[in-house]
Amino acid sequence: PITKWFPRHMFKGMLQIQSRLANVDCVLEVHDARIPYTGRSSHFHQSLISIRPHVLILNKCDLIDDNQAKAIKRQLSRTTKHIIFTDCKGGRNCRQILPTILKLMLASDRFKRSDASDIRLMCIGIPNVGKSTVINKLRQLHSDKSIHNKKPAIVGPTAGVTRNVMEKIKICSNPLVYLLDTPGILEPKNVSQDDIMKMALCSTQSDQYIGIQNIADYLLYWLNKHKHFSYVELFNLKKPYDNIDELLIEIALASDYYAKFKTPSGKTGLRPDLLQATENFINSFRTGKLGKFVLDEDFLEEKYRENVQ
Ligand code: G4P
Repeated sequence: PITKWFPRHMFKGMLQIQSRLANVDCVLEVHDARIPYTGRSSHFHQSLISIRPHVLILNKCDLIDDNQAKAIKRQLSRTTKHIIFTDCKGGRNCRQILPTILKLMLASDRFKRSDASDIRLMCIGIPNVGKSTVINKLRQLHSDKSIHNKKPAIVGPTAGVTRNVMEKIKICSNPLVYLLDTPGILEPKNVSQDDIMKMALCSTQSDQYIGIQNIADYLLYWLNKHKHFSYVELFNLKKPYDNIDELLIEIALASDYYAKFKTPSGKTGLRPDLLQATENFINSFRTGKLGKFVLDEDFLEEKYRENVQ
């Protein structure tokens, strides 16, 4: 049910964000480059982001290719002026973030905060898109040494690890720039089953809640629908599969994944380890081993889409 999918702490976080926006000069929206449309909050766009300068960071760009990034940027830039593709693990393009923000600040009256000596940013985005990693990268690049002794933003694989709106994090001393980190925000309305599954594939939904079998099933459906058959070669299979159970058995057999089990008579036997096969199949997407995919490729218009394949 949707109420379960929009946990209380996220609703609380949304209210906290609204109440703090008056003292924010620029909103840094972090999202996953593989889903440039899915999971971004239209509520925030309409009522919050639109009244503050806004920079969109499409992070994890190491998991898509440059042509895909160009296609997304060309289409998105019709509505979003400042878009930066980053790989915050590898560091790519991270140096562009602060100068872009500072340039924006020079062109803005900062909503009557132009006399304030500090610049305040707010970082928003759904869980696991890399907000904490972006913040840590900014601090590493720009802050003075003493800042590094302070506790870094927590980075974690579990969707929604940053639970409370954090106090100001200093990311630069000259000029003085602070950033407010926020809990991941998921919007309760207008979310289709497809959206939920794409977000689950990108780890922005908890695996436990969605179920890894369902995630693997969606991954196979999505790959086949878009005629991406790289899994056949990656897992040494003979042909593509339509059925997830058959695929997982074949992956387990081809990869020698076996689990012990006890027969009714108490003997120990071996059977294909479907759990390991499921995890490996999903991880092959999450790590980019399967290929570089934009799950939102259907959202790109024809003229942009040709770059994506
Ligand atoms: P959050 O604050 O938005 O919740 O996300 P967080 O920074 O905790 O990052 C979530 C996961 O995404 C982390 O992985 C992090 O390392 C990874 N990540 C962040 N930026 C990038 C990026 O640019 N590219 C890629 N490929 N991954 C990124 P993790 O699950 O904790 O494990 P690990 O992969 O770091 O071992």
